[in-house]
Amino acid sequence: MKPVYVLNGPNLNMLGLREPAVYGSETLKDVEDRCRAHASSLGLSIDFRQTNSEGELVSWIHEARDRACGIAINAGAYTHTSIALHDALKAAECPAVELHLSNVHKREAFRHHSFIAPAVNGVICGFGVNSYELAISALHSILTSNKKG
Ligand code: DQA
Repeated sequence: MKPVYVLNGPNLNMLGLREPAVYGSETLKDVEDRCRAHASSLGLSIDFRQTNSEGELVSWIHEARDRACGIAINAGAYTHTSIALHDALKAAECPAVELHLSNVHKREAFRHHSFIAPAVNGVICGFGVNSYELAISALHSILTSNKKG
């Protein structure tokens, strides 16, 4: 079985240090460890990555088309700006879930719009680090029901 790509965008390397009241005190390494354990409990493996570059995220999404069984993506601020990520997710043609640690709808108006939401299966936000585990569970159920179908 191919891995789930868990892709993280800009500033997520600063987790734990960055606005802990909004994003919590766990680091990205803590998040990765949790994702790995959760995926493994579901019989999945993960390839966990972070970049501050929009172009690199686009390239990883292209790569996922052949090398991943699904994508869980926290695109950070590019969520609210990037038509390139929208187009890449459409081109990937594999199950994808958008996720956010914070509830973006409770925050500034500029975070209420997502360019990538129309290109993914669904969106999870507001559950802190648990949003990652929920996104992996969502992909697992999509992959399982695809197999059954
Ligand atoms: C975020 C929400 C985005 O609005 C923000 O730009 C981030 C993190 C989240 O996980 O809550 O960088 O994606």
